[in-house]
Amino acid sequence: MQSTSSIDQFPTPLDSLNKVAYQAFQQSKSYFGVAHKTISTRLTELFARTSERQTQSLSPEGLQKLQQRLNQVLELDWQDAQRGVYPQSLLFDNPWQDFFRYYPIVWLDMPSMWERDREKRYQDFSPEIDTEGYPSYYLQNFHHQTNGYLSDLSANLYDLQVELLFGGTADVMRRRILAPLKQGLSAFDSTPAKQIRVLDAACGTGRSLRLIRAALPKASLFGTDLSPAYLRKANQLLSENAGELPQLIQANAEKLPFLDNFFHALSCVFTFHELPAAARQQVIEEAFRVTKPAGVFVICDSIQANDSPELMPMMENFPITFHEPYYKHYISDDLVARLEKAGFENISTENHFVSKYWVAHKPA
Ligand SMILES: C[S@@+](CC[C@H](N)C(=O)[O-])C[C@H]1O[C@@H](n2cnc3c(N)ncnc32)[C@H](O)[C@@H]1O
Repeated sequence: MQSTSSIDQFPTPLDSLNKVAYQAFQQSKSYFGVAHKTISTRLTELFARTSERQTQSLSPEGLQKLQQRLNQVLELDWQDAQRGVYPQSLLFDNPWQDFFRYYPIVWLDMPSMWERDREKRYQDFSPEIDTEGYPSYYLQNFHHQTNGYLSDLSANLYDLQVELLFGGTADVMRRRILAPLKQGLSAFDSTPAKQIRVLDAACGTGRSLRLIRAALPKASLFGTDLSPAYLRKANQLLSENAGELPQLIQANAEKLPFLDNFFHALSCVFTFHELPAAARQQVIEEAFRVTKPAGVFVICDSIQANDSPELMPMMENFPITFHEPYYKHYISDDLVARLEKAGFENISTENHFVSKYWVAHKPA
């Protein structure tokens, strides 16, 4: 899939062919996601939803806006690959084996999710799951996941569920952290590539680390997460890649086991909306502590209320459908103010499709 043309040159016939293949690939994922969501939503309404929890539909303007944003993010994803931010092959990276193995289990797990949803059991863990030592805000069945983040089954289904939720754009949105990370690392141009240290905090199953590895083949990568099951899954995923394995450590992002000023860059993807306000602030303070002066911190999470009023019904539906107890506060939380409070400066924000990005720098 790799081609030698750059964005400044005319596209080669191979580029054009690859672009069509990429668009077709994304479109098929999008159709599959819509079909899955339509059927699963109908069934959920039938078996779990009560009248007090009705969801709203997007207006025609909202739907149009969503389609526009989808087209924009796919074009940007293609362009960033052309620009060499990451290899073009990354655009076609898909965990097929997991898809065939776990997609049937996504359906098989649904009746128990409906039951918990119907009975409003949101902190429901099997007796064999060790819940000791975790912050209480974490012991939730986020997305109605069986055993929350604390089982291997949950770790095996997670990526697939996120991919279905976003209609095949989960990695497309994760990849938007790569350009600002690389841009931020340009402050350390004189540091040998192997000595650059990058942490993905709350790395989950390691998808962002896989993308970061492709964009920064030589850097020393680190991942932390509270869930041992998700770290096991991340280890499995990241072991598929040639090159140095990222170091994975079980840790609370509020209290990282690293020295001050240790990392040149940090990322945190799709996690802030699952933290209560105080924990959000603490994670930012901790990110500031472990980032080197002149280092960069990139957050990726859901869009917020003030980003796109047309998409507000979607933001209101999300916590109802997926049990996201901290989301409502998150969508109106001012993360720029939180980043500034911690000491970050030169903070910018971007929106891509249904995600928002904060790029913050530690003073040099
Ligand atoms: C929605 S998932 C996002 C995972 C991953 N970053 C991604 O892009 O898919 C949230 C992740 O944050 C982790 N998590 C939540 N609170 C945490 C905390 N305080 N410290 C470390 N990890 C945390 C969860 O275990 C889970 O893996």
